[in-house]
This record gives sequence, C-alpha cells and structure tokens, in this order.
Amino acid sequence: MKKYFVLMIALVPFSLPSFAQSDDQESLPSFAQSDSRQSIPLNAEERIVILTEMRGLLAGLQEITAALAANEMAEVARVAKSLGMQMVQIVPLSIRQKLPRGFKQLGFAVHQDFDLMALDAQNLGESQQTLVQLGDTLAKCVACHAAYQITVK
Ligand code: HEC
Repeated sequence: MKKYFVLMIALVPFSLPSFAQSDDQESLPSFAQSDSRQSIPLNAEERIVILTEMRGLLAGLQEITAALAANEMAEVARVAKSLGMQMVQIVPLSIRQKLPRGFKQLGFAVHQDFDLMALDAQNLGESQQTLVQLGDTLAKCVACHAAYQITVK
C-alpha cells in the first residue's frame, strides 16, 4: 500500500497541470519549445505507411510481453518472427529510398533482432534470454525516436 501511495505522490506533478490549466502556451514544458530531431519529409500517405508499421511493432511487443508472462515461448517465437525482416517488405521501395541511411540501419537492426529473438525463443525457449533481447531491441526503438521525426511535405 505504502508503495502505491508513494507512486501516486510521484505522479501528482505530472497530472496536475493538465487539470489546472487549459491550453495556455506558457504552461507547456520547456522541451516543447525545441525539437532537434532530424526531419524525414514524406507525403501524407507515406507517413501513414511508416506509422502503421510502428503501431504494428508496438502491438507485437504487447503480444510478446503477454506470451512471455505466460511462458508461451512458441507464441513468442511466432510473434517475433512476424516483426522480423519479413515486415520490411510492407514498406515500398519508393518510401525506403527516402529514408536516411541511419534510419534504415536502425530499422534493419530492429527487424534482424526480432528474427534472432524468434529463433532463440524457438530453439532455447528461455524467457529470461528473450527479456534481455527485448531490452536491447527497445533501446534501438528509443534511439531512433530520439533522432528522427516525420514531417509531411
Ligand atoms: C529506424 C527508426 C525507428 C525505429 C527503429 C523505431 N521507430 Fe517508431 N517511430 C519512428 C519515427 C520517425 C516515428 C514518428 C515520430 C514523429 O514523427 O514524431 C515513429 C513513431 C512510432 C509510433 C507512433 C505511431 C503513430 O501512429 O503515431 C509508435 C507506436 C512507434 N514508433 C513504436 C515503435 C516501436 C515499439 C519500436 C521498436 C520495436 C520502434 N517504433 C522503432 C522511428 C523508429
């Protein structure tokens, strides 16, 4: 109980402003003033393709996490495989050509990670190993999100 109380107190500073203030510009946190992530200019439809893939990654992570919790390693392998290099094919070449090299490298690395995760989950069946791999892969999601944004031209 005490733990939950501390957590609630910790969350108060983040939740209060949204109740206390409306859309007053000056109430925005300082990081809202600048966004130094590199822009990737795409058209509206191309952006939808990329963001749909992203939501697919998040949905897959949810399924992998749930399967890990239930120790269903065959399911972990199945979902991880679907997030592997086969997912790259969904993105047409015309879009891939517009993506910066660093973006593609990180993107490929993530999909290759999922292929390896699938193989290991299938062959070793050790959830702890998958968790370590997930941590490494999520670091790449974080790194790419810190570096790039999509802007519609
Ligand atoms: C190669 C770069 C890259 C990698 C790797 C990457 N993302 Fe993204 N992701 C982006 C960019 C760029 C955006 C759009 C951000 C923006 O325009 O502000 C995005 C947006 C998203 C969104 C928002 C989708 C929407 O509908 O708005 C989700 C969710 C997401 N990513 C999940 C993930 C997850 C989970 C992973 C890792 C498994 C991941 N991404 C890996 C670049 C990447």
